[in-house]
Amino acid sequence: MTESYVVAIDQGTTSTRCIVFDRRGQLVSVQQREHHQHFPRPGWVEHDAVEIWRAVQQLGPRTLRQAGIGPEQVAAVGITNQRETTVLWDRHTGIPVSRAIVWQDTRTDELVSALAAQPFAPEVAVRSGLPLATYFSAPKVRWLLDHTPGLRERCARGDVLFGTMETWLIWNLTGGPSGGLHVTDVTNASRTMLMDLRTLSWDDDLLAFFDIPRAMLPSIRSSSEVYGRAVEAFPGVRIGAALGDQQAALFGQTCFAPGDAKCTYGTGSFLLLNTGSAPVRSTHGLLSTVAYQIAGADPVYALEGSIAITGSLVQWFRDQLGLIGTAPEIETLARTVEDNGGCYIVPAFSGLFAPHWRSEARGVIVGLTSYITKGHLARAVLEATGWQTREVVDAMNADSGLALRSLRVDGGMTADNLLMQFVADVLDVPVVRPMVAETVSLGAAYAAGLAVGYWPDLADLRRNWHRAAQWLPSMDPELRADEYDNWQRAVERTFDWLR
Ligand code: G3P
Repeated sequence: MTESYVVAIDQGTTSTRCIVFDRRGQLVSVQQREHHQHFPRPGWVEHDAVEIWRAVQQLGPRTLRQAGIGPEQVAAVGITNQRETTVLWDRHTGIPVSRAIVWQDTRTDELVSALAAQPFAPEVAVRSGLPLATYFSAPKVRWLLDHTPGLRERCARGDVLFGTMETWLIWNLTGGPSGGLHVTDVTNASRTMLMDLRTLSWDDDLLAFFDIPRAMLPSIRSSSEVYGRAVEAFPGVRIGAALGDQQAALFGQTCFAPGDAKCTYGTGSFLLLNTGSAPVRSTHGLLSTVAYQIAGADPVYALEGSIAITGSLVQWFRDQLGLIGTAPEIETLARTVEDNGGCYIVPAFSGLFAPHWRSEARGVIVGLTSYITKGHLARAVLEATGWQTREVVDAMNADSGLALRSLRVDGGMTADNLLMQFVADVLDVPVVRPMVAETVSLGAAYAAGLAVGYWPDLADLRRNWHRAAQWLPSMDPELRADEYDNWQRAVERTFDWLR
């Protein structure tokens, strides 16, 4: 039987998906399952890693059945994942020591402030490319070590392993306690805050700074190579790629040239700009990160503007306020009014990420009057995503010295035409969406397919990219400037709430 397909596993913040792709990069079948979000205390966000692994075990075979194929027809499987989310587990039993701490979790706020006062603190950004913030894995690992009796000793002996979600899944896919591979890739490792961005290896000084034992860390591999064969879910199939989901989207959008940029609108939104073969240090609040590395080739780097809360603000509007029944209804509700009525919502639920990096910030709604209806609030929810995009694009332009000329977008929120038009309006550049909107999964599939020769090269992948929709800017410049000023004043209100 010929190997005619590639499979992607996309382990995201709210759900896990398995997708089968064919050689033209077209989606053949997809299965998805949501997992529980645990909020045990304000600011805490946890996932059950076992629930997620069980989802993969079920979704894998189902996706193949739906496509009408067997594992022998799958050339490779690629994994992509929510980044930074941290899980520690016992290597002998496969049981996690606690629930995973999710990237959005801010419990390490005080720890991060204490670390920031240490003399070595400025060096952290130089080596890792990341600002000291609750977002990244290292403070989460340190928090677990500090709060779980006896854990540090077990980790130092190598009895307890650390991983982000791709590491956890690869270990389980390749046999778990009986011989599972303990590996990560350069893109995910670049989000731990423990890797030197230039050498692409764990850094002893960073490990000492966070007081994290090396024995618990996975080995770092490229993003596109055969790590091993699955024994679970896809028996016998080669695992050919792992990339953080935002890097995977950059790859799926075929942003292979320096200057190419994309923004993925999901739970949060993440704008990545390919900066080529050397990391660019941001002076405007962006991250330096690894975009991808193909086995045997030099790494490619990116500048990233990470926005913590965009789609999850719509979820909050739906689930916590109950003002809409389904996420797409936000557009219908927003269209019941002409404008925001003077109302702005800054969703600093996990502090504010790029370009501010203020862990202590908390969300605000400003401009309320008795005139405001739920339609105005719906508009303010959508506009928050547009203005947050504008802030990171401004930072990107300042860092790179070049003005962004157009923006490739993907992710669930790009189905919202009102929002995409607003993004084009506030950025004042065209916004473009490709035919295959599943760019995260597609990127993981591409990287896995390249590793096994299913696709010959990057040029072949680029030919699969086709434009599906475009939004052109049409906002009056004066209005844009006034509204941006209002937004920025609203942002300032979030900073001093928790004195
Ligand atoms: O850094 C966090 C990011 O990887 C999460 O992405 O799409 O799962 O919300 P998503």
